[in-house]
Amino acid sequence: MIDDIVQISKEAGELIRNAFGKDHSIEFKTNELNLVTETDKASEKLITDFIRKKYPSHGVLAEEESEANRSSEYLWVVDPLDGTTNFAHGLPIFSVSIGVQKNGETIAGVVYDVMRDVVYSAEKSGGSFENGKQISVNKNSNLGHSVLVTGFPYDIRENPDKAFERFIEFLKQARGIRRLGSAAIDFCYVANGVFDGFWEVSLHPWDICAGKLIVEEAGGIVTDFDGNEIDIYSTCLAVRQERILATNGVIHQKMIDVLKSV
Ligand code: IPD
Ligand code: CA
Ligand code: CA
Repeated sequence: MIDDIVQISKEAGELIRNAFGKDHSIEFKTNELNLVTETDKASEKLITDFIRKKYPSHGVLAEEESEANRSSEYLWVVDPLDGTTNFAHGLPIFSVSIGVQKNGETIAGVVYDVMRDVVYSAEKSGGSFENGKQISVNKNSNLGHSVLVTGFPYDIRENPDKAFERFIEFLKQARGIRRLGSAAIDFCYVANGVFDGFWEVSLHPWDICAGKLIVEEAGGIVTDFDGNEIDIYSTCLAVRQERILATNGVIHQKMIDVLKSV
């Protein structure tokens, strides 16, 4: 199955690449920060048509679809274009993210970094790979030497929560912070050791499903801000996951301490 996920991710990525830099019809979803383009929809159609043809008994939970068949043994969790704001504004950082669950457990995940033509993939208990080469998280335990990544929710104007305080505190304590604009890619850069940690609130199942497995199979840890394990089943079926922390493992508690301190 992993070969199929890689193949359809790359096909969707090619569609997105061909549309990049051209004019887009941009619609707002929940507000003017939350965009969807015709390319998100075309990518999703390509992927869901493939799944329904090749795996007709499998369920699909895809971002732009309102209906999901969640009762089947296998569930595909699909973000057809992660990083729509970047895509729409001409910044070449976005991905296709596809996770597959069996009876609620994520068994395979693929994130395709479209413009770099890099495939991140993982199968449960099989390790994580970047273009076929095994990857692992880094071993840095010093928060002061770490480069972290985060993102901000689309409802930040109405519901800032502690987003600014958290950002400021990590800015004081880490070597650097990045905001790439594709949560799926953020996970992968933790998995391959580029980043030491990634935190974000209000992610959705399709942002998380594949990336979480890729981090874990690379030796990292993914929990909520209290260090509690995230129930994979509810994570991937919930409307949104409130608090996600993905790290190399050794820096995990230090990041939890900072998150709790604000
Ligand atoms: C978004 C990106 C972004 C994150 C947002 C997500 P989308 O996904 O992953 O990095 O900060 O929370 O919603 O809307 O581009 O698929
Ligand atoms: Ca997304
Ligand atoms: Ca998306």
